[in-house]
Amino acid sequence: MSVGTSSSGAAPDGVRDLDVLVLGATGLTGRLVAEHLAGRAGSAGVRWAVAGRSPDRLAALLTELGSPAVPSLVVDLGDGPALERAARRARVVVNLAGPYSTTADAVIEACVRGGASYVDLSGEIPAVARSVRSWHEPARRAGVRVVQVSGYEALPADLAVLLACRRAEAADAAGAGAGVPGTGVPGTGGDGTGGDGPGAGGPVVAVGVTATATPPRRRMGLSDAVSGGTLQSIAGVLADDDARSAGDPAALVPDQRGARRVRRSSPLSLRPRVVRGRVVGPMVPAGFIDPPVLHRTAALLAAERGVPHAPAALAEGMDMGPARLPGGALGLLAAATSATAQRAVLGLTRLPAPVRSRVSAALARVLPASGTGPQRDVLDGWTWSVRADALTRSGARASAVLDGEGHPGYRATARMVAEVGVLLARSADDPPRTGHLTPALAVGLEGLPSLAAAGLVLRDD
Ligand SMILES: NC(=O)c1ccc[n+]([C@@H]2O[C@H](COP(=O)([O-])OP(=O)(O)OC[C@H]3O[C@@H](n4cnc5c(N)ncnc54)[C@H](OP(=O)(O)O)[C@@H]3O)[C@@H](O)[C@H]2O)c1
Repeated sequence: MSVGTSSSGAAPDGVRDLDVLVLGATGLTGRLVAEHLAGRAGSAGVRWAVAGRSPDRLAALLTELGSPAVPSLVVDLGDGPALERAARRARVVVNLAGPYSTTADAVIEACVRGGASYVDLSGEIPAVARSVRSWHEPARRAGVRVVQVSGYEALPADLAVLLACRRAEAADAAGAGAGVPGTGVPGTGGDGTGGDGPGAGGPVVAVGVTATATPPRRRMGLSDAVSGGTLQSIAGVLADDDARSAGDPAALVPDQRGARRVRRSSPLSLRPRVVRGRVVGPMVPAGFIDPPVLHRTAALLAAERGVPHAPAALAEGMDMGPARLPGGALGLLAAATSATAQRAVLGLTRLPAPVRSRVSAALARVLPASGTGPQRDVLDGWTWSVRADALTRSGARASAVLDGEGHPGYRATARMVAEVGVLLARSADDPPRTGHLTPALAVGLEGLPSLAAAGLVLRDD
């Protein structure tokens, strides 16, 4: 297989002539990422290109986007040397070629070898855990960043929690203790978002995350909520040798002691509940994807600070509206249905391997195929938010709310992952951190304002 360019000619050997390379650009999410960059690249001064296995589809995509001069690289994921040549041309590869359980490893390897940072939207925690084990140290040695789960499923919650914790620590250090109101605690940095360096305050012992989402007023089916690519990825998780770790909140925590503490302090709960008169269901699309990421962020930060990882108790969920009857009955039903479906998926991950393989193969056949997904008319018109609350041991409280717009899983996710790519490209020569990072640690609180270009905005207190 080859790496070629349809319009710009091959870069001279050794020249890193691209900031962001969008791999899997002809897939459903890849197209949305390319669309965002086509509209952004001029003003942001980003040199970008698309890559995929079909030269015809790549050319058609660029024509459709009105960007015929953007380079396109023909790369098949089965061709390691071609992948590495592609990675050598880019500062950052944004990988939208799923299912990641089977595809990500080869692309990450090519990036680490080729000196490019790597970003993807994986929600397949067992495979992400393997990547952490395989690639954290090599990525550090290569001076690059590997950032997975970098879409709606974890990025907003990860950043909101990081900021809420910094604010709570700052309030604690200022001696505000239990009297600090839940919002409005100033950050520690000059940009109003706080720095993400060591905080001076006492440890955060409890973290809450609540998400809300308001879809456009249209009838929506399953395929408008979740793409075939994502459903096929879920089927892929069931076939994974480590499938059981999909339900482990400590799956991405680097040391065993810290992992045991996480499992004790924050056992995974998918139960629907009523909190202060609101129905709270498990996170959508899955309540078991972001906890491992949030706990990894805390563990890596503790290691940076040289202090033991003392995990906060994490409770999270999706706000499904007021609990009062009669309207609350619908919210309760939706929360219970979501919880049952999610528990069923986790139940399947605990089956013996041969049974899981058969279930996975059967699901792959009956679920919508890769390439199908939300129609364009349901991508816009959404508003959503993710709120994090943090509490320190001495009772200081703080919160952070991020507001987003566009279909969380596709429009907003595509914009977010594209902007993370742009951000990492800008700091490629002098990255503040390297290794297998979480979205929050890759973006950093100093990078949060630049995600406004993805429609993700910190709400004023
Ligand atoms: N919220 C989130 O975090 C989120 C949201 C959206 C998607 N995702 C994840 O992102 C991934 C993509 O989803 P999607 O719906 O966009 O999937 P999709 O439409 O099926 O796209 C998959 C892409 O992978 C490419 N690909 C597959 N095998 C390849 C190979 N051997 N060589 C080169 N390219 C290859 C396909 O190329 P062709 O175009 O040539 O077929 C296509 O471009 C999935 O894993 C999904 O779970 C996560």
